[in-house]
Amino acid sequence: MRVAVVGTGYVGLVSGVCLAAKGHEVTCVDINPVIVESLNRGIPHIHEKGLAELLTRTVETGLFRATSRLNEALDRADLVLIAVGTPSTNGVIDLRYIRSAAQDIGAWLKDAGRFVSVVVKSTVVPGTTDSVVLAELEASSGLKLGAFGLGMNPEFLREGEAIIDFMEPDRIVFGHEDHRTLAALEELYAPWSCDKIAVSTRTAEMIKYANNAILAVQISAMNEIANVSTRLGGIDMRDVVNGVALDKRWSPIVGGHRVVPGIVSYLVPGCGFGGSCFPKDVQAIRSLGESVGLPMAMLNAVLSVNDDQPLQVGAILADAMGNLDGVKVLILGLAFKPETDDVRESASFPIIADLLDRGAVVTAHDPIATPNFKAAMGSEAAQVRFVDNWKPLVADHDAIIIVTRWDDYRDIVAEAIDGKPLFDVRRLLAPEEVGSATYLTIGRNFVRKTA
Ligand code: UGA
Repeated sequence: MRVAVVGTGYVGLVSGVCLAAKGHEVTCVDINPVIVESLNRGIPHIHEKGLAELLTRTVETGLFRATSRLNEALDRADLVLIAVGTPSTNGVIDLRYIRSAAQDIGAWLKDAGRFVSVVVKSTVVPGTTDSVVLAELEASSGLKLGAFGLGMNPEFLREGEAIIDFMEPDRIVFGHEDHRTLAALEELYAPWSCDKIAVSTRTAEMIKYANNAILAVQISAMNEIANVSTRLGGIDMRDVVNGVALDKRWSPIVGGHRVVPGIVSYLVPGCGFGGSCFPKDVQAIRSLGESVGLPMAMLNAVLSVNDDQPLQVGAILADAMGNLDGVKVLILGLAFKPETDDVRESASFPIIADLLDRGAVVTAHDPIATPNFKAAMGSEAAQVRFVDNWKPLVADHDAIIIVTRWDDYRDIVAEAIDGKPLFDVRRLLAPEEVGSATYLTIGRNFVRKTA
């Protein structure tokens, strides 16, 4: 099938490359000629595990190409995926790029003289595709739905695992407003054999938000319980999570063996969720609820817990050390999670800001995300010493904080940290693994144990 993908961010590029790898002829569109030129040489402009190899392969087979000319891509497409960014302005989804893509596609449709399905892949609030996108397409093409098709096909890609998530999805959702688009989506995903569900475009949009919102609820709920456990003392949330997860409804016993689903990993307490999806999506659905006269109490609480959660780190550390004034702290991890250089909404920002406020002297390391972090921090980055090599610095610091679960940081165990606080925010290590260090984390406080 011939596919045009508008936008080459995480979603557009991963989708385009994976569809090409499955045999479709894909043309990705980006307005930036430097990005286009690089993609056509097989070099991605974003960091994603496995993407470079797959891009090179699909460029070589001729199934993937990039262009900065939208009409050129549309001229050879049966289906168009809109995968442009949907930034958030004050917690409200900003649809300007979606609108502009729909207008441009509509202008092309006007003279195309043939049926093409336009499918939204970007995450958009329920009602966007069948109202905003449809209206823009109809206005700029002068055509009515039926002369072109309309669909919504949400993505469920985790950064760092996006290729595997696309190639081996849990399910594929075919949001559609017409039967020809449903047929086109079925053909597009014919190479995949997972569960596929056909729904309205609004339902497809809501599935995406509900999926992320419910995971965010789970994270904030466990973080709140962890904070009470820290305050009470004598409780280890690691054991609490294990105890909860052994409930058959979390981890069923199938054929005599316990199956532990991935969802259980979202019970582990930490410093809150970040990234480009959870915070933005929960805010967007909350704003949507408000706009229809239904303020969302649960999601407000989820966001409020999440905003405060990174501050647990400075508070617990100060509690353990007495005072952080002049204390030399080594932060390990700046990316919002491992295997990515993405720092959007990374908990490392509020954690570092709080430590600086408390008078700490901060050194920070990340295997790949430091340039992005420094750029996002702006002038305040001057207050932090960023380093490329963390191991020799352990001995010279008073406290070590692991914020991102990079595997490399497991080597901390071999470093000299005699009696020093090792704050394992994300539970990379078990307390018994850290030798002579003073193990600190969220949801485990055996100092304050109540008698
Ligand atoms: C998330 C979803 O997991 C994907 O299914 C979805 O497709 C994607 O958003 C999206 O909307 O595009 P992602 O943001 O890449 O994917 O990251 P996750 O691995 O789910 O982690 C999100 C955040 O939650 C991270 O900051 C992570 O550290 C945090 N988290 C995760 C916790 O704080 N606690 C946990 O127990 C698990």
